[in-house]
Amino acid sequence: MPPIKPRNGILNIIPYKAGDAKIEGFGKVIKLASNESPMGPSPKAVTAAKKAIDSGLQLYPDPSCSALRAAIGQVHGLNPEQIICSNGSEELLHLLAKAYATDGDEIIYCQYGFIAYPITIHAVGATPVMVQEKDYTANVEAILAAVTAKTRIVNLANPNNPTGTYLAKSEVLRLRNGLRDDIILVLDAAYAEYVDQPDYDAGMDLVDNGLENTIVTRTFSKIYGLAGTRVGWAYGPASILDILNRIRGTFNVTSAAQAAATAAVLDNDHMARAKAHNLKWRPKMSRALESLGLSVTPSQGNFILVHFPGGAEQSVATDKFLRSKGIIVRPVGNYDLAGALRITIGTDSENEALLTAMAEFFA
Ligand SMILES: Cc1ncc(COP(=O)(O)O)c(C=O)c1O
Repeated sequence: MPPIKPRNGILNIIPYKAGDAKIEGFGKVIKLASNESPMGPSPKAVTAAKKAIDSGLQLYPDPSCSALRAAIGQVHGLNPEQIICSNGSEELLHLLAKAYATDGDEIIYCQYGFIAYPITIHAVGATPVMVQEKDYTANVEAILAAVTAKTRIVNLANPNNPTGTYLAKSEVLRLRNGLRDDIILVLDAAYAEYVDQPDYDAGMDLVDNGLENTIVTRTFSKIYGLAGTRVGWAYGPASILDILNRIRGTFNVTSAAQAAATAAVLDNDHMARAKAHNLKWRPKMSRALESLGLSVTPSQGNFILVHFPGGAEQSVATDKFLRSKGIIVRPVGNYDLAGALRITIGTDSENEALLTAMAEFFA
């Protein structure tokens, strides 16, 4: 019997390939491939997770993540009723597509936008509409020009992965104002905490525009160092949250994850240290790599996109050389960026090892 056919679109998905974590022959590697936090989580988050585990894994977690939503609300000055928590923010991207799009509908995303977007779109049988960028940056004009009567959602990562580029608050506002009111704008602000530009805004204000058509997604996977516990959240209008709450897994965030994230968001000092570390190293790494003749896209994330003058051949050779030194960075050929590598900012010693290896390769 031939395999049973899944719903439309699913076979169009190119499966997501996570960053490698191992190199044969190396007990310990330097992993700068997945935009994880080199600082790790707040020790308070680890203690809270352990306590949650000790106090009863047989119990279901709080299905509404009350304590976590209250803590996020307190820290960000938001109404907890307008916050939803999830199993990583990627879950929210899937839920939004599932809730608001179906066969024949269109969802817009940008040329070098986060690779999960086309996956979430194909998964619901909708049509991905990829919009060209300008200088590796989302282009509001082009996004607006791509809108059709079938458009249901626009996904914008701000800042974006893997480019690290961002749109200023005024541009995001121009985008929102240029979209029909019945199109949902999903502002994916997974890297918001790392941004140091005064004209940036994650977009929380836009959620309160009264039109109930904008939602901002956030994550504990990046600056909070909790990628392994899978916690995301979103700030959105009550009407959208009501829909997402109907279709999410009832117990989508584990008790240990809720406890860890609650402690993490309240530990502002740890977050500030992680931000300061990134702010120190992001320009330092960029300048050092530029001095080797490489070009680096200006980044507001915890990673940099490094372009090789020798194109794909040189980026592949560099990646291979780094691996021979036990260093894993991220090839981005799947983003049509075969001549580039994405490098996550690591610890002091990891960054130094990376720069030493790069200098050796380009000597
Ligand atoms: C732009 C962007 N959005 C969302 C995510 C998903 O993160 P998570 O599901 O871990 O919250 C990532 C992860 O790399 C990302 O880069």
